[in-house]
Amino acid sequence: MSASIFTTQKSTWHIVSGLAPSLQDSSQFEELLSASRDVRRNAHAPYSNFLVGSAVLMDGNIYRGCNVENASYGATICAERSAIFSGIADGARSIAALALTTGPENSTPIEQRTPCGICRQVIAEFAESDTPILIDAGAGAEYAGEIVSLEQLLPWRFKL
Ligand code: THU
Repeated sequence: MSASIFTTQKSTWHIVSGLAPSLQDSSQFEELLSASRDVRRNAHAPYSNFLVGSAVLMDGNIYRGCNVENASYGATICAERSAIFSGIADGARSIAALALTTGPENSTPIEQRTPCGICRQVIAEFAESDTPILIDAGAGAEYAGEIVSLEQLLPWRFKL
């Protein structure tokens, strides 16, 4: 995975090469990242023990979500959808950026830090091709995380 470096006032990110994500809202990247890390602590994940937090910038406001598992398994909702649906319920409609935190440690492999397929499709409903997705590298990592565009995560996505 090749990447270039992107530095905001307080943090350094890896921009994964390919379609460049839109970085217009980078001033709130740190706020998104810390909201995503904070809300992860509220996850209800007694079955997988895999806690996830997400924060999404929608129409100027930050909405938070965590995974909420269920004894029936299939009723489980991921952190990203929980955050996005909170914004939608509040009347927001457009995703400017989304952050995702899974493992607390920087050793979590990238496959376990990226959004699942269902969440990618839900992000696509309210985002643009170049909308940045911030993938938390984990506390203690030398950089804040990877920045990828929606297009990189879900090319050829379904639309009606
Ligand atoms: N999970 C998320 O919250 N977001 C993702 O993108 C991947 C998976 C949750 C669902 C489930 O509670 C746990 O992580 C293990 O799959």
